[in-house]
Amino acid sequence: MVQSSWDQCIPISEKAAELFYGKLFEMDPELKPLFKTDIKEQGKKLMTMITVAVRGLSDLEKIVDDVKALGVRHVRYGVKDAHYDTVGAALLWTLEQGLGEAFTSELKEAWTKVYVLLATTMKEAAATVQNEPA
Ligand code: HEM
Repeated sequence: MVQSSWDQCIPISEKAAELFYGKLFEMDPELKPLFKTDIKEQGKKLMTMITVAVRGLSDLEKIVDDVKALGVRHVRYGVKDAHYDTVGAALLWTLEQGLGEAFTSELKEAWTKVYVLLATTMKEAAATVQNEPA
């Protein structure tokens, strides 16, 4: 379900990324200064990573090391554990905007599971380096 709904989002990914960051910074304006890269470029990276993760769902072992490394890099970006909830909420909101009625409660639950799994893997990897000097 997550895979096919994401495929529907890919053609509108530029718009989706714009919606996502708009919502994210509305929810927590303090997150804005963490993003140094041009937000369009950043949006592309985010969409690519979600695509890799969503495609990898059928073989999680294959992507787990990349997801952990991504979590470790996020420590350097100044990302804290609590930020993952805000990002998750902005992502679900964006999917709802993009998919409209197709974003059923069942699909929302499925996406929540996927996001929580990614976020938990990233946070656990981050915790292993959090106390080390940059
Ligand atoms: C499942 C969750 C997330 C995914 C898949 C994700 C994905 C990415 C990707 C692919 C990049 C590009 C750079 C790289 O590969 O290292 C990136 C950078 C970044 N992400 Fe995330 N991210 C997630 C969660 C978060 C959260 C919770 C925050 C908190 C605000 C965040 C803030 C940032 C920042 C600040 C950068 C660097 C931006 C820059 O260099 O200008 N990300 N993220």
